[in-house]
Amino acid sequence: MTNKVRKIVVIGANGMLAQKVIEAADSAAKVICLDLPEFDITDRVAVLHTIEELCPDVIINCAAYTQVDKCETEEALAFRVNGEGPGFLAEAAKECDAVLVHISTDYVFAGDSGTPYREDDPVGPLSVYGRSKLKGERAIIASGLLRYFILRTSWLYGPGGPNFVETVLRLAAEREELRIVSDQIGSPTYTGDLARAIFALLQKSDDGRGSIYGIYHFSGDGACSWYDFASVIVARAQAAGIPLRVKTITPITTADYPLPAIRPAYSVFNKSKYQTAVAANIPQWQQSLQIYLDERQAII
Ligand SMILES: NC(=O)c1ccc[n+]([C@@H]2O[C@H](COP(=O)([O-])OP(=O)(O)OC[C@H]3O[C@@H](n4cnc5c(N)ncnc54)[C@H](OP(=O)(O)O)[C@@H]3O)[C@@H](O)[C@H]2O)c1
Repeated sequence: MTNKVRKIVVIGANGMLAQKVIEAADSAAKVICLDLPEFDITDRVAVLHTIEELCPDVIINCAAYTQVDKCETEEALAFRVNGEGPGFLAEAAKECDAVLVHISTDYVFAGDSGTPYREDDPVGPLSVYGRSKLKGERAIIASGLLRYFILRTSWLYGPGGPNFVETVLRLAAEREELRIVSDQIGSPTYTGDLARAIFALLQKSDDGRGSIYGIYHFSGDGACSWYDFASVIVARAQAAGIPLRVKTITPITTADYPLPAIRPAYSVFNKSKYQTAVAANIPQWQQSLQIYLDERQAII
């Protein structure tokens, strides 16, 4: 990022993605962290007031109601946080002429496509979470803010959050058999890669390429099922000497493991818009998983 970006407000700053966003920010930038309970994106007046006072160059919204299954029973809250909050942030960004970066999800799609989803493909969320996140995207677009990035991502994991990698490692340490869904296909995304993607896009926008704003798809490169992902996690963890009890990983279907929220069966992204915009390669998901596991081992 160039020195043009002087003040960055990170919202949802205690969350999993925010941790890597804060780490990836240019050391010359002033990073201001906001999260609950002091800062609530559903409080429009407080959002407008706080952002106006801070007058940032960039707002990065990592805040969301991310418990996908709980959204089914907490619909009103999910829609306030994921659907309305981003609109308030866009309004505030417009007032102070800041760039807004917002994170959305593969769950805005129905998952019935046979080919990787492009940014302008028809949406069709299957869950409250997906519908609420789609409403958030639309609120930003409807605000009239011109300088925004909406990055849709998928299967996110990284330090500091409950995530699939941690769940698999925990269960694999406790049990001899894991049963993992093999009929949902997507792309795991390491928070470190997404954080770098955010700053890569911001850097390009600093270069004066005004037309770069809009919706982008970003995930780790490649595709797999949750079963494939779990198998690689376990194999890599065993190779790294992490003690595990697991002996068998059994592929099961979505129907064998019913959950309150329906997930898309296929949510692989076409990422060529991002790749063209920043002229950078996206790391393979297996490569990034190894980086995460190494990072995790270094901490333990
Ligand atoms: N995790 C995934 O697999 C995944 C996949 C695709 C897209 N995404 C998107 O990626 C983004 C980052 O996800 P993440 O997993 O890093 O999220 P996360 O760890 O759950 O962090 C979200 C943060 O937002 C805060 N927050 C919740 N409601 C808020 C409110 N009303 N006002 C201010 N802050 C609030 C949370 O605080 P509390 O903890 O106190 O509630 C938490 O600190 C989200 O937009 C998510 O929808 C995630």
